[in-house]
Amino acid sequence: MAAFGSVFMPKMALATFENNQWSDAQIVSSDSISLHPGAHVLHYSSTCFEGLKAFRHEDGSVHVFRMDQNVNRFAQSSQLLSLPEVDKEQVSQMIKDVVAEYAADVPLPPGSMYIRPTHIGTEAAVGKAAAPSETSMVYILLSPVGDYFAGGAKALRLLLDETGQRCAPHMGMIKSGGNYASALAPTLEAKAKYQADQILFCPNGYITETGAANFLIVDGNEIITKALDSSFLHGVTRSSILTIAEDLGMTVSEREVSVEELLERAAKPGVEAMLSGTAAVLTSVGTFIHNDKEYKVGSGDTGPVAQKLRQALNDIQWGKAPDKHNWLTKIA
Ligand SMILES: Cc1ncc(COP(=O)(O)O)c(C=O)c1O
Repeated sequence: MAAFGSVFMPKMALATFENNQWSDAQIVSSDSISLHPGAHVLHYSSTCFEGLKAFRHEDGSVHVFRMDQNVNRFAQSSQLLSLPEVDKEQVSQMIKDVVAEYAADVPLPPGSMYIRPTHIGTEAAVGKAAAPSETSMVYILLSPVGDYFAGGAKALRLLLDETGQRCAPHMGMIKSGGNYASALAPTLEAKAKYQADQILFCPNGYITETGAANFLIVDGNEIITKALDSSFLHGVTRSSILTIAEDLGMTVSEREVSVEELLERAAKPGVEAMLSGTAAVLTSVGTFIHNDKEYKVGSGDTGPVAQKLRQALNDIQWGKAPDKHNWLTKIA
């Protein structure tokens, strides 16, 4: 199986912003764009993106999960990066059109079609270090993906890092490439030094998120995660899991959690920790690493609540449970 996100459908949806307006969207070859080497995005990182999925149901129909949420976040990221304002209606239609074009290629569960809307500043202007790009491009790439857990869902090792941060705090809620570049060096170091899978960034001793996922803990009937603020990405999976947890009768607490509290709770029976995101859905954390010491979380393996929540989410995505919150958009 090819690595997640390394295979693309041959065509994508594309619209360009020039002379203060968006062009009509087109379906074009996925390798058809050309950029000037002086393009704003290549120098000043005027770029944001999204990640969402389309799922195939047993009756053959194809549905995109929580498209409105991702399109809203895309518009918000674009605005906070001073990119041209996106037309949310147009972006939604582009997603629907390109998924419809490849409806027959959407894999069966546990696979899906990963959808990658991208917005980049295209103006050739290296003098604009402190000014926005006046032209830009939105494209929607598709990548069929398999089961992220092929080979078994192993509980992760997480380094709790109180000294660094993933990105500048005012950038956290923007889904922008620079934030990922910023988290890369510490994450590679954590892998090499501690065999950690990810870092949980805990600036000032309080939990935020990892390089590409949100963080949640379960203690008995309570699910706890950091309350929304501008310092971290407002994950669509996070919000979906909290809604499902509530539906299942759990108590949802959105608040600050200190590293001290986390380590105290880790050893308690019935405690689980997990990462949430579109790619990995919900993955259990088995071990915390902090100040050169290791702390087992619960049994150290995938926990029963994580498994139950993930199944409940997948059941909605895969059309096996009622879509009572209207999270699915039928495409074909
Ligand atoms: C930094 C970061 N945090 C959290 C998430 C989870 O967001 P979502 O659930 O919308 O995929 C992602 C993306 O997957 C991410 O890149």
